[in-house]
Amino acid sequence: MTRGSREKPLAGQVAVVTGAGRGIGAAIARTLAAIGAQVLLCGRTRKTLETTAEAIARAQGQAEVAVCDVADLNSVEALAGQVERTLGRVDILVNNAGIGGFGGPLHELAPINWDQILNTNLRGVYYMVRSLAPIMIRAKTGHIINISSLAGKNALPNGAAYAASKWGLNGLSYSVAEELRSHNIRVSVLCPGSTHTELTPHTGKDAAKMLQPDDIAHVVVMLVTQAPQSFVSEVLLRPTLKP
Ligand SMILES: NC(=O)c1ccc[n+]([C@@H]2O[C@H](COP(=O)([O-])OP(=O)(O)OC[C@H]3O[C@@H](n4cnc5c(N)ncnc54)[C@H](OP(=O)(O)O)[C@@H]3O)[C@@H](O)[C@H]2O)c1
Repeated sequence: MTRGSREKPLAGQVAVVTGAGRGIGAAIARTLAAIGAQVLLCGRTRKTLETTAEAIARAQGQAEVAVCDVADLNSVEALAGQVERTLGRVDILVNNAGIGGFGGPLHELAPINWDQILNTNLRGVYYMVRSLAPIMIRAKTGHIINISSLAGKNALPNGAAYAASKWGLNGLSYSVAEELRSHNIRVSVLCPGSTHTELTPHTGKDAAKMLQPDDIAHVVVMLVTQAPQSFVSEVLLRPTLKP
């Protein structure tokens, strides 16, 4: 280990980031690796995860790829097994994987789409917490960061299922924060506004004024580098100029 890497704030720590193949998750993974974390990159598509891993390696960071569908309990449990076998610990879990759903009013939404949105954005976080929190509890340390949305604080016409998944995720996060704080585990929920990614075209909005994935990654770094005796339980992140 070089002198420089010892000085990085997350040196020696393991971070698991879901949805790390593109968009906000890729930015979070790159940024955590840049400050010393060994990052496990999770998502359903190996190729995009490998692209993130290559970018991290080019910047002298450490990353591993784990194909995982957060909506599939067997897949998430296999991931937890891989974490225990190969890394032995998880200091930071960023539940970022999510899908959109902004096609029209709720009464026109097909049940299969409801299931896909809720199973990814909400049930997926439950599966990740269920499978990885025990590792943190045994270690008596950890930080879970759930990537929610301002759609979890506001009404979102034509995106009711997505909004429901994020309102649910906020309630889950506040509650799990109380369950885990006695184990010295911090839980934060981060609610960004519209962000320039492939999630949705954000038609009619100025992409240059929207949040960029690195803005969210910057806040994640703020959260995980907070001194251990306190934690930020919720962040609402807005672009300065309305897009
Ligand atoms: N973009 C916005 O305006 C915005 C605003 C607020 C909050 N958010 C939230 O930020 C998070 C990231 O969104 P993004 O904008 O970066 O979207 P994105 O560019 O579409 O990326 C989503 C990522 O999640 C992964 N993913 C989707 N379903 C998955 C599953 N079942 N299991 C594992 N990984 C899965 C995708 O990879 P694979 O398809 O390869 O699995 C992809 O890497 C989401 O939770 C989203 O709700 C986004």
